Amino acid sequence: MPKYRANFVYTHICIIFSCALILLPGCLYAADLQEPDGLINYYDRFHPTIARAGMVVSQNEIASEVGAQILKQGGNAIDAAVATAFSLAVTLPRAGNLTGGGFMLLYLAEEDTSLTINYREVAPAAASENMFLDKNSEPVADLSLHTLAAAGVPGTVAGLFYAHSNYGKLSWKQVIKPAEKLARQGIVFNDDMYRNFAITEGLRQNPESCRVYFKPGCNLYRPGDIFKQTDLANTLAYIARHGRDGFYKGKIAKQIIAEMEKSGGLISAEDLANYQVEIRPAIRGTFNGYDIVTMPPPSSGGVHLVQMLNMFEVLASKDLSPGSAKLMHIQAEIFKRAYADRSKYLGDTDFVKVPTAGLTDKKYARELAKTIKAGAITPSDKIHPGKPPGYESPDTTHFSAVDKAGNVVSSTYTLNHSFGSGITIPGTGMLMNNTMDDFVAKAGVPNSYGLVGGKANAIAPLKHPLSSMTPTIVFKNGKPFLATGTPGGSKIISAVFQQLVNVLFFDMNLAEATNAPRIHHQWQPDVLYVEEGVNTDSIALLKNMGYKVELSKSLGSLQSLMLKDGAALGAADPRRPHAKAVAVDH
Ligand code: DON
Repeated sequence: MPKYRANFVYTHICIIFSCALILLPGCLYAADLQEPDGLINYYDRFHPTIARAGMVVSQNEIASEVGAQILKQGGNAIDAAVATAFSLAVTLPRAGNLTGGGFMLLYLAEEDTSLTINYREVAPAAASENMFLDKNSEPVADLSLHTLAAAGVPGTVAGLFYAHSNYGKLSWKQVIKPAEKLARQGIVFNDDMYRNFAITEGLRQNPESCRVYFKPGCNLYRPGDIFKQTDLANTLAYIARHGRDGFYKGKIAKQIIAEMEKSGGLISAEDLANYQVEIRPAIRGTFNGYDIVTMPPPSSGGVHLVQMLNMFEVLASKDLSPGSAKLMHIQAEIFKRAYADRSKYLGDTDFVKVPTAGLTDKKYARELAKTIKAGAITPSDKIHPGKPPGYESPDTTHFSAVDKAGNVVSSTYTLNHSFGSGITIPGTGMLMNNTMDDFVAKAGVPNSYGLVGGKANAIAPLKHPLSSMTPTIVFKNGKPFLATGTPGGSKIISAVFQQLVNVLFFDMNLAEATNAPRIHHQWQPDVLYVEEGVNTDSIALLKNMGYKVELSKSLGSLQSLMLKDGAALGAADPRRPHAKAVAVDH
């Protein structure tokens, strides 16, 4: 009998029985009472937001509301996503951006087709393999993080422009205007901003960041203050007037180049003018009867998401339950093998050959799964990158949108770290990214997410740094079913994997899946990260098995939506304040 039905049926029988004895008309009425086939199970602990005519889910309520308003004005999901992305640059300055990069996955309902837009940053033409090493070939602390040399050529404006000009319905000005207004009129400085501006040291070391994001004397705004970003408003207005070229050529480009030349950045006018988005074939897989469409390199996310799901399909059994040590053990062993492969094989496919077909091959997953034995841990130093077939030796944020026509957008974009490099380009109100740190500065030396890698992700001019961002759309019977993605650096892939397993295997509703505690393992370091919500009995069992367990406050921030019976169900991750799914009802 399905969940909660037993109770209901018992109550129902009692009502009918009592009615028959007491009052016949009431009995007939009561006998008609049944749980309808609705979208919710009333007794679930967490509930998704429900919408009938479109929805936007993002890490900031104001930005989600902007997207929803765009849908109400007749815009489609692409317009809504682009407007949300521009608004996040104002309302979530630590991750929303014009000067970073990302990935977008689209489902176009009319054409019944999906496509990926790679708007990831590239290394400047003047970049070189050893640019972050000193004369002893050791990485120079901070060089790839808090300097302008850490900046890749930004892709965000080109990505949003490409999506909008090819697939949007409203005008470019219409989708930028709300962001410009928010920046010019100001928003309430919230507690999330207060906390994050306070703890990011790099920001206050940059005089322009002090001027733009702080009160005179580089003093913090207080929660409740009105926070205006006039330079950013002017930048947005300029881009609204001049389109893509408004960022990559002209006044703003000149401001970026002037600061690069003054402060040791490598990005040139040619780098900006030549930046191009790329459309690459999606990574595709299947899991438990669903089709998975996800991001190809330079994201490592899609390849390893499919690889992990393939392994899980082999190892999953009916007796697995969410939160159990057995499940977490299997998942941790799966993660280690996938992240080991990532360290060797993944890089930008314009520069290196990546065995994507081999890594996502079901037979290869079966071979890897055979090395996982229930109850036995394989220490990370005993796991090495495997041999997938077909290989010749050799603060990020996510938003999802859907419209009433069924178009779906799933996009993750980033400045890399919270507030990127912390350096604001004078006069523009824009923080520069530090995404060059996603490259391997030196083989075997972990980057700021603890990820190790080698040749495949070495720095080269115009190469995309490897990413973990994993915007994903799941299909059921050929139609979009679930769109999701998250920030979290190296923890992105494992978080998206768990979201998919929770919904597609454990049949959780989207809000339950989003709320469920998560774990993470990335092979190196050999540590199992466990969210504090995981029950202590399971943690004790995992420790007894030999895992080095570290507690994490939170892993990821998934902004997801699901399509079911003509409605959209949305879930914003409670792990970040102010995240919200905003529904459009008619
Ligand atoms: O592309 C990547 O994999 C990283 N730059 C993502 C950074 C990130 O998720 C930071 N957010 N928590």
